[in-house]
Amino acid sequence: MCGIVACRTDGSPTGYLCDALQALEYRGYDSVGIAVQTRDGGALRLRGTHRVAELVERIADLPQSDLTGVGIGHTRWATHGGVSERNAHPHSDCSGSIHVVHNGIIENCEELRSELLARGHEFSSDVDSEVIAHLMEEEVGAGVDLADALSHTIDRCEGSGAMVIMDSDSGRVVGACRRAPLVGATSSNGSFLASDISGFGSLVASFQVLRDGDVVELAVPLRWTGRNPDQPPVVPHEWTSSDMGLHGYPDHMAKEIDEQPELAGRILDRLVGAAGSGALWRGLELPAFERVAIVGCGTSLNAGGIVAAAFRRFGLMPAETVIASEAADTVLGPRTLVIAMSQSGETADVLHALDGDNFAGSTVLAITNNPNSSLARRANAIVECSAGQEIGVAATKTFVAQVLTGVAVAISALSEQGRVDRANTRSILGDLLRMPDLLAQSLTVAKDVVPPLASQLAASQGVIFLGRSAGVVYAAEGALKLKELTYRWAQHYPAGELKHGPLALVEEGTPVVVVDSGGARIAGNIAEVAARGARLITIGGPGSTIPALGRSLMAPLDNGFQPCGPLESVIPMQVLARELALVLGRDVDKPRNLAKSVTVE
Ligand code: F6R
Repeated sequence: MCGIVACRTDGSPTGYLCDALQALEYRGYDSVGIAVQTRDGGALRLRGTHRVAELVERIADLPQSDLTGVGIGHTRWATHGGVSERNAHPHSDCSGSIHVVHNGIIENCEELRSELLARGHEFSSDVDSEVIAHLMEEEVGAGVDLADALSHTIDRCEGSGAMVIMDSDSGRVVGACRRAPLVGATSSNGSFLASDISGFGSLVASFQVLRDGDVVELAVPLRWTGRNPDQPPVVPHEWTSSDMGLHGYPDHMAKEIDEQPELAGRILDRLVGAAGSGALWRGLELPAFERVAIVGCGTSLNAGGIVAAAFRRFGLMPAETVIASEAADTVLGPRTLVIAMSQSGETADVLHALDGDNFAGSTVLAITNNPNSSLARRANAIVECSAGQEIGVAATKTFVAQVLTGVAVAISALSEQGRVDRANTRSILGDLLRMPDLLAQSLTVAKDVVPPLASQLAASQGVIFLGRSAGVVYAAEGALKLKELTYRWAQHYPAGELKHGPLALVEEGTPVVVVDSGGARIAGNIAEVAARGARLITIGGPGSTIPALGRSLMAPLDNGFQPCGPLESVIPMQVLARELALVLGRDVDKPRNLAKSVTVE
């Protein structure tokens, strides 16, 4: 993970670096740092285990006249080495003139470090990235040009990653990457590099995406060297600034939870007509398929579970979810449509899954919230979730957006391929159109009922989540949210599985959250935990602890399945996780150890 930025600008380098780091802080926020060339050919380096906002305060006291417009910056998500100032980037070589920011993992780091130590280099951190500074030092010391030195250095480092080097003697800045994102651009203000376009999006009208083998130097225009004979294509870019304001909300997560009913309405307005006519599927220009594999991680994988269920139930089509980090073991059948589900579109596990030999030649449809992402570029077609930027690290509104977008695509594809007839297509889509109201009703109930419940759970060490059928996936999402935000144990089970082992965990007062989508069997499972003294929290219809489920409880459609299962059940669980986290004094927008974009495997 980590976010990296660099600039050569006529304006204030610190102003640019801080703005860019703030935009990239979603990639990691364990620590932050910058190095800016000083007019005497040295470097001012500021690092710390704080957030970018504090860096901004520290910079405010600095005399800007001592600085040139050249600098690099980094926001860290720790891999090698603990979270400390000495491990924060930029890292420097022994001479103090080569400075590096790096995103990724150097798999042969220990070997390189031993070699460098044996040749007399001194290390001042525990992180793998520091070897880059010393390798560069040797190359540059031997008279190799900085750009060539970087090309040689990245070849010596195994694993994926992106790196930017500043030589404070010369003021040159070069960058390169391997299977990791790095983009460059120029404008009338100078030239820039960043892990993604949000690092300079408001400043430029186009950008270029580095490929493996490219080395780019900050200049106007950018100077391209490296192994590739040509430059990467120029991608036009229209900046749509995101609304980052809180608008009276105490945190972004609260705001993003609240946005979900309206967002659902917007998504369905955009997709349902095209799904019904089949234009949504036809517009993707993808070949017909006979099975589906949905690849993703975390919350996106959960959303994929609902979409896979829609393919199975409505079209009787084999559809599975694939945990991206375990995808190497997957065997794809013939004519499989691979759907890659990723909010950020930058998740390394997903990108690397698609690169596996077992996925070679497969058709990939990306469902992502980021049309400029590596995944969007890699896929044969994309459908945007259009959730707007999600700032809270825990996914909320993007989950709802992925489910609705994915289900609309599924219905459109199945209908076009004659697996669902027109009448059923209309009835399913009609049901889908009820979701905004159901989500709104659920939100109202959740905000009323959940906060007092959350306070009662403050002393509990863990929570069990149960569901049946599509409710299992929502229980999984509820448990994931609780873990991420509260740092308490949470585990989900299909309710019927409980008696096969996990029931042993239930004792007097054990909190058990049940997605109660109705029926005798789940009622039986609820009775089993109640009989053992569980602290039951049911999310269901009237009479349940959180009476937040509407249409999902009513008689199923003729085809026996609601389009998304009880999607509205996710809102009380999001609210529960957030409220309990607040009771426990957690940072709900930036939970510990996490990042919004997970670019390491
Ligand atoms: C959970 C969460 C993560 C992500 C996962 C995949 O709240 O945000 O589990 O869902 O890291 O990320 P994307 O969707 O960007 O591929």
